[in-house]
Amino acid sequence: MPKSELYELAEKYRPEFPIFRSASYLNSCSLGALSQRSRAALSEFADLWDRRGASAWYEHWLNACDDTRAAFARLVGADVSETALAPSISAALSSIVSAVDFGVRPKVVTSELDFPTLVYQFLARGADGIETVVLPSPDGVSVPLESFAETIDERTALVATSHVYFTSGAIQDVAALARLAHERGALCLIDAYQSTGQLPVDARELGVDFLLSGALKWLLGGAGLAYVYVRGPLIEGLEPTAVSWFGVEDQFAFDPMAFKLRADARRFELGTPAVPTVYTARAGLQLIDEVGVERIRRRVSSLTEDLLQRALAAGFRVRSAADPEKRSGIVMVEHPDPAVAVRRLAEAGVIVDHRPGAVRFSPHFYNTTDDSQKAIRVLGG
Ligand SMILES: Cc1ncc(COP(=O)(O)O)c(C=O)c1O
Repeated sequence: MPKSELYELAEKYRPEFPIFRSASYLNSCSLGALSQRSRAALSEFADLWDRRGASAWYEHWLNACDDTRAAFARLVGADVSETALAPSISAALSSIVSAVDFGVRPKVVTSELDFPTLVYQFLARGADGIETVVLPSPDGVSVPLESFAETIDERTALVATSHVYFTSGAIQDVAALARLAHERGALCLIDAYQSTGQLPVDARELGVDFLLSGALKWLLGGAGLAYVYVRGPLIEGLEPTAVSWFGVEDQFAFDPMAFKLRADARRFELGTPAVPTVYTARAGLQLIDEVGVERIRRRVSSLTEDLLQRALAAGFRVRSAADPEKRSGIVMVEHPDPAVAVRRLAEAGVIVDHRPGAVRFSPHFYNTTDDSQKAIRVLGG
């Protein structure tokens, strides 16, 4: 990435994030930093609540939900009818999984590097006959495509795994996984929470059936909202049993006997969304769109490589994909006592996180190499 573009991004956008006045924030894979736009959006929500009460629903809040679905659709190259809002990835999963037929195909293929909430959906339904295969990772970084290829078979209903592993930042070849699943008659569900917002993601190009994300992390929208994509032609054949009044055709008829699922992906919606987060999330999506995911990918790649090289030069071992193209903005630096290291970093004004055996850094487009320099200096000191 040309140096000028790098500086331009930092100079232009860093002031939007007040946290940088007091800290080097390197934890976007946990929680994206709060922008002034999202804070202003939150105030706008509160003002409407205050001035309009419930009438704000019809004049503002339902429109804000529509805008947010549309913005997510644009982000992942989908039609808005293929998108829905959910309270969390876990809730979205429960609705989707309730619609999948495991009768003839009882098997689900996941991996040990996936976020636990994904795997739990299937383990919890073991008594219903669901057989969950949790593929091991030989290196703690990724799971070879061959392992999926050997395991997905004619008894597999679903391949459910991540685009970017939260444990290592490694990028999976999702297009190849979707092809493998489809060749054997299975569906492919991708947890893209750690990829959307830091990598270009095109759900149709990837060929996946379901793609899940949320506002919290790289999409800079705060806690309480997840995004769902379901491939258009599949929707009408999927009938969730975890349902809500937001998922039916005539929501405002208030008729308990008029149960007809919507024809679009909103049949997977589960009740009243967290409107404050819809406001902050919409602002987050606008900001990501303005900066541009292609540019963010270039920026985050260069920050990731810089951080990784600094950590290696300081004598640390780093858990990351061998191929730089497969690395994303999550850098796991191995440490004998990561919790203590994270506390020490916080005292020095560097906010990061830890996972078993490693301190986790996750730079976004608003970071600079000064943040990484300081972080590694404190970690090594
Ligand atoms: C990859 C991934 N999937 C799912 C989750 C959890 O999602 P939720 O809390 O919305 O269910 C997280 C993280 O916090 C995550 O990193």
